[in-house]
Amino acid sequence: MKTFLITGGAGFIGSNFVLKARQEKWANVINLDRLTYASNSENLSSLNDDPGYQLIQGDIGDFELVSSILLRYRPDAILNFAAESHVDRSIASPETFIQTNIVGTFQLLEATRNYLSKLLPDERARFRFLHVSTDEVYGSLGPTDEPFHESTPYAPNSPYSASKAASDHLVRSYHHTYEIPTLTTNCSNNYGPYQFPEKLIPLTIISALRGKQLPIYGDGQNIRDWLYVEDHCDAIYQVLQQGKLGETYNVGGLNEKTNLSVVESICNLLDELAPKANFKHASLIAFVKDRPGHDRRYAIDCEKICAQLGWRPKESFETGLLKTVKWYLENSEWVKRTQSNDYQDWMHKNYANRLVKS
Ligand code: NAD
Ligand code: TYD
Repeated sequence: MKTFLITGGAGFIGSNFVLKARQEKWANVINLDRLTYASNSENLSSLNDDPGYQLIQGDIGDFELVSSILLRYRPDAILNFAAESHVDRSIASPETFIQTNIVGTFQLLEATRNYLSKLLPDERARFRFLHVSTDEVYGSLGPTDEPFHESTPYAPNSPYSASKAASDHLVRSYHHTYEIPTLTTNCSNNYGPYQFPEKLIPLTIISALRGKQLPIYGDGQNIRDWLYVEDHCDAIYQVLQQGKLGETYNVGGLNEKTNLSVVESICNLLDELAPKANFKHASLIAFVKDRPGHDRRYAIDCEKICAQLGWRPKESFETGLLKTVKWYLENSEWVKRTQSNDYQDWMHKNYANRLVKS
């Protein structure tokens, strides 16, 4: 069986990918994760007795550590999920985004380059470096603009998207300059189980269940495309198996929605699944001060991965959201453990000067 070095495998998308990789026997997994606030190694507790899984706490920016892992485990592929990923935090404190997303990816690429120089030609030919990125690198669309294509010029607008754009450029350059066998995926907003409740969908579900305000930035008409996380994991695996080296693949859910309609859909589901007498969850919606530089619309043209690799999202927004809301309802202990002091501090920092008094 193959071995994957997965970075950031204790985060939201990484956890889902690791669980699927072990369940589907795609590969043995070494998970290198710094275990930041956004991670949760408990997500992977079902793998505690799995000899094909190992967690190593560490930083992708630690060249010596990554080099020793590569030499010891000789992975067939590196899948780089590790990142600081929350736009609002990148606005409040950009530095860790520069460190992890840019410098960290650079060091990971350097360790990979060094490792590949020691491999035999056939081992080197089999190796892949897959970099997981975002549609946010393309900037913001107007209401009638064509969706992002792989050839859309990069125009990142937040420190987060700028740091991801820089990392994509580094990956591209390592392919062109050093012939590192890279693949890059740029996907839209993911949602599903294990997402940390600082992002719109889990935050809305959890706040609504607790009777707290549901903060919607600006007029709520910003549009995102929503991709169910398992569909994203399948896309990544497909690109890893069949993607053309040096190329990028856009991955989208074919679900463009305004933020307001996403929050309303969650409220409607909670009215059915967790009803309270004489109470509509949508009554908690609160329009609050907008995010600085808030991108208006993201939309993905994912024709390339669909036509060339035969991938398509399986979930509609309705089926994916139902699964997601049910997962949060059924995993209240997991939710409880995300509510640390650090989390409360973040919520206060981001929302205290935004929320309207109820
Ligand atoms: P996440 O924030 O939930 O998880 C990130 C993981 O990376 C955490 O486990 C964290 O501990 C780890 N990490 C952070 N810094 C690290 C470092 N220096 N070294 C090692 N590990 C480190 O993020 P996510 O939502 O799972 O996103 C995964 C990837 O997908 C990211 O690269 C992100 O940019 C990209 N992406 C996410 C979305 C989305 O909607 N969540 C959309 C597009 C792209
Ligand atoms: P988010 O989940 O942070 O993802 P991203 O910024 O990477 O797209 O936000 C999704 C959308 O929801 C984005 O347009 C910002 C908006 N949003 C709110 O309106 N209220 C909130 O409390 C949050 C966290 C996000």
